[in-house]
This record gives sequence, structure tokens and C-alpha cells, in this order.
Amino acid sequence: MYILGIETSCDETAAAVIKGDRGNIKVLSNVVSSQIDIHKKYGGVVPEVAAREHVTQILPVIHETLETAGIQAPLSRDARSGGGAGGGGIQAIAVTIGPGLITSLIVGIETAKVLSYAWDIPVIGINHIEGHIYANFVGRRQPACAGRSSDFPALILTVSGGHTMLVLIENHGKYKTIGETRDDAAGEAFDKAASLLNLGYPGGPIISKYAEKYKLQITNPTCADRRQSAITLPRPMLDKGGFDFSFSGLKTALLYAIQQDKNFKKRVPEYAHEFQQAIIDVLIHKTIQAAQKYNIKTVMLSGGVAANTELRKQLKSAVKKQIPKSQFLIPDLKYTTDNAAMIATAGYYHALWKDYTDWQKLKVNCNLEL
Ligand code: KG4
Ligand code: ZN
Repeated sequence: MYILGIETSCDETAAAVIKGDRGNIKVLSNVVSSQIDIHKKYGGVVPEVAAREHVTQILPVIHETLETAGIQAPLSRDARSGGGAGGGGIQAIAVTIGPGLITSLIVGIETAKVLSYAWDIPVIGINHIEGHIYANFVGRRQPACAGRSSDFPALILTVSGGHTMLVLIENHGKYKTIGETRDDAAGEAFDKAASLLNLGYPGGPIISKYAEKYKLQITNPTCADRRQSAITLPRPMLDKGGFDFSFSGLKTALLYAIQQDKNFKKRVPEYAHEFQQAIIDVLIHKTIQAAQKYNIKTVMLSGGVAANTELRKQLKSAVKKQIPKSQFLIPDLKYTTDNAAMIATAGYYHALWKDYTDWQKLKVNCNLEL
């Protein structure tokens, strides 16, 4: 089955085509048009600007993804004489319906509705967080339809610009959120910290670059200055709040620390390193505790912050050391930040369950819960 995925929840206009065959998913094309360069100068995503960009990008991106996948441009209702589906190989459209920015989401949803009507194929509304979860199943064979995969029960740490969640997965489509952030999301914390350190937007990749620079300095045997950092930031709610997180106090602690440090401009890599490690320590500690409590078979990571090299490395090693019987899955780097291959992959499972929505009834829900 061929599925077209569409994702426009924030500042990436994305479309992808996947082929799902008896639980095996292959990505045929995955096109992402990022607006990062546009929003950089404002220091964050401006919703109105994002929506206007989605409007201009959505059709070229869908066109490119169909062409790359080698799927013929489907026929419109009018051009078809004998009736029947006009999807030209595409059998369903999976589109993000929330959570996210309402004006951005609407562009993807209205496009999906028009295509569903014109091609006469069903549409599937996908929760963006579920999409991030399914980034881990891209290219991973699962028992088709019925039957429980040996991957379950699984625990997934989803860390993005808008969310920080620990979710139990009993089986495909069966989720239970056991922890989430009470204030800032992990990605949001990275973005705010980068702004305090005058490093630009988005913060995650740039903080991680500076942190790496500092790590290389202290681990290089030929480097004269290898002293361990004297900067210490808190690890918020490490042993309280159950599996919930809180990162806004960490950002405030960073602000106070740099305000009191006349030399802070020279120590940016050191601050970046400590800030990143504080977030990683909390994320890993709670993930391992939850995995132990719920006898988890698979630990997974997803969301934009899952692109962080140190988080990937340190969580993998913590799983191996502390819960060696569990396996660890992480998505390919290109499926960590927002993309439509993950939306189409989640769509494949919904298609197996025949969980379609009439295009007339498809609605945006910017606060949609998992
Ligand atoms: O999942 P995503 O693309 O969009 C949302 O659904 O929010 O995540 C974007 C977030 C941003 O906050 C960005 O700073 C963060 O992911 N991010 C990273 C890295 N790459 C992106 N955070 C830490 N390290 C990275 N390498
Ligand atoms: Zn996302």
C-alpha cells in the first residue's frame, strides 16, 4: 500500500511517500522544506510567517515527493472517465492534524482534503506525537495487522520543541503517557538557552556544537587547560515529580550564572556543555527508572532533540548498562526532526485498522492529546 504523508505542524513543510507491505515499511521519498533560515532572524518561529511559507511550499513539496517516489501524478475526478480511485498508486493520505500551530496545521489539512476529494482516496488524521513515535518504525518489520510485536511493551522518550513526554506503548496504537513537562519542553529549553548565550536559533544543534567543542578540549591529552568545569547547573526534579519534567528553572539558573560571570563570553562552550548535560542527566535518569518500573522490552527515543549526539550515545549506553535485557531503538537522524515519512508510517498502521476520516470531517486540533 502506498501512502502520501503530509506534515505542516510547525516550520517544516514536508511530504513523503511510503510503501507498506505486510508490516514492512519502505520510504520512497521524503521531502522537507525547512523555514529555519526565515525564522532565524526573529529568534524563533513566527506563526503567521510560517503559515504563509507553508502555503507557497506545500504543492511544490508534494509534487517533488511524488516525482522522486516515481509515482505518476494522479488523475483528477474530472479527467477520469470510468470512475474508480484516481490516486495513481497512492491509496491513502496521512496528514498531521495536531498538536501544533493552528495556522500551519490548516495548510496541510486543507491540502489533504482537496487531494482526498480530487483523487477519491481516503484520508487519515495523525497526531504529530504519534508521528514522532513511528519514526522508530520506519523500515522496521512488524507483524502485519494482528499480533503483538516482540518490541512491546515499549517506552518512548519524545523530546521536541513543543513536547517532553515519556509514553508507554502496549501495542501499536495503544499509548499511555506516564510523564511530561510541567513547563518548558527540552527543545524549547535548548532554544531559550541558546538565546541567552547569544548563539541564535534553533538552539539545540548549536548548543550541542559548543558542548562538543568543550568536551574535546577537556578530553584532549595535549590541551593545557583540561580542568573540569566549575560551572554547575541544577538537575531539576531528578528524584521527585514521578516521571514529570521541568526545565524552566534550569534556564533561569543559567541566566543567573551568566549574569554573575564577567567572563561568560569566553566560557560559552563550558556553559553549553553543562546545560546540555543537565538536560541529558534528567532525561536519562527518568527514562531508565520508568523502564525498570514497567519491565520494558524496548526503549525508544524520538523528536527533534533525539538528533542530539550526546543524548543518543548516553541513553544507548545507560540502557545497555542498567537494563541490559531491553533493546534500544533510535530513528535515523533524518527522521528525528519534523518530517512526513513518520506521519505516513503512522498512517500505514491506521490504514491497517481502517481508521479513515471523511475529508468533510477532518478537523485541526492544535491541542490534540496522544
Ligand atoms: O521535533 P521538532 O523538529 O519540532 C517540534 O515538533 O517541536 O523539534 C525541534 C526542536 C528544537 O527545539 C531544536 O532546538 C531541537 O529540536 N533540536 C535539538 C537538536 N536538533 C534539533 N536539540 C538538541 N540537540 C540537537 N542536535
Ligand atoms: Zn515535531
